[in-house]
Amino acid sequence: MSAAHEVRPYRDAFAPYWHPVAYSHELRDAPLPARLLETDLVLWRTGSGVAASQRYCAHRGADLCSGSITPEGLRCAFHGWTYGESGRCVRIPSQPQTPIPERARLATFHAAERHGLVWVCLSPEPAAPLPEWPELADTTTVATVPLPRLDWDIAAGRMVEIVLDVAHLSFVHEGTFGNPDQPEVPPYDVEKRSDGLSARIVYPALAPGVGGAPPRVDRTTLTYDVTFPFAARLSFKPTLFYPHTVYAVASPWSEEKMQCFYFASYHPRIRNFADLFVKSESAILEQDRRIAEGQRPRAHPLDFAGEVLVKADRLPIEYRRALTALRSGRPVDGPPLE
Ligand code: FES
Ligand SMILES: [Fe+2]
Repeated sequence: MSAAHEVRPYRDAFAPYWHPVAYSHELRDAPLPARLLETDLVLWRTGSGVAASQRYCAHRGADLCSGSITPEGLRCAFHGWTYGESGRCVRIPSQPQTPIPERARLATFHAAERHGLVWVCLSPEPAAPLPEWPELADTTTVATVPLPRLDWDIAAGRMVEIVLDVAHLSFVHEGTFGNPDQPEVPPYDVEKRSDGLSARIVYPALAPGVGGAPPRVDRTTLTYDVTFPFAARLSFKPTLFYPHTVYAVASPWSEEKMQCFYFASYHPRIRNFADLFVKSESAILEQDRRIAEGQRPRAHPLDFAGEVLVKADRLPIEYRRALTALRSGRPVDGPPLE
């Protein structure tokens, strides 16, 4: 690899991307703590949108999450210094007649609200736009249900890989929807784009039998769609259950730890969907968590040297190739370097 293509440190590589840091419904009229790529943040609502800045006060390091929102901005609970959304201190109550020092400011970051999430980009220049999920825009045709954040001790890239892993369904998900009699993965194509990946498979899921009846095979079309680096959309078209789409967006806390924002969209006329989804998906994700937290190394590998991937692992392979290219500043849809 040339010097220009050396693997960059984890934070440097992913800081230029947007990552979710909270569900919109979690951010109300008080400041909210968040963490992204080993950076502690405070989030708050301004008159016109959302703001993200360093979490600790420029004056004496108090936690701004204990502060409050005033018409002027974010007010620290310790001595009342108040910061506008640009991060600049606009009020020092202990000496109102004296000019405010230039250094009395907070580091601020890009913040945006979309798809029911608050997103932050730590770099001054975002490298890519937010994921495009236009189907979520019209709330008359789509409803959403979020799960509580998944707080797992795994790398964000490992989370996306388990979402994309076709071969684990018949093993890890036995008892929920996995079909232990159908472990073979049929060949499938992966569409590679500069900003993501897509693939489609049909999986013979097992739907639980009702009233003591045996489980029935539910041939489910799964459409995978990734937006780099860590956003996955997975749409389910079963024959026996409701069609719905799952969104899993992993947010990296560090190279070895993430939180995942996980929600589903469905047709609002399906009245009992939200309860059914939360119950069944929580059980499915617990099956995943037990496996994923046990994987080593904890950091998402940058190559295939320490693992033996086979053709049936095609989606995780393509994803890992793309992410390694991204870490090295190479085009993700270029030829792989072997
Ligand atoms: S520490 Fe925040 S105002 Fe003093
Ligand atoms: Fe899974």
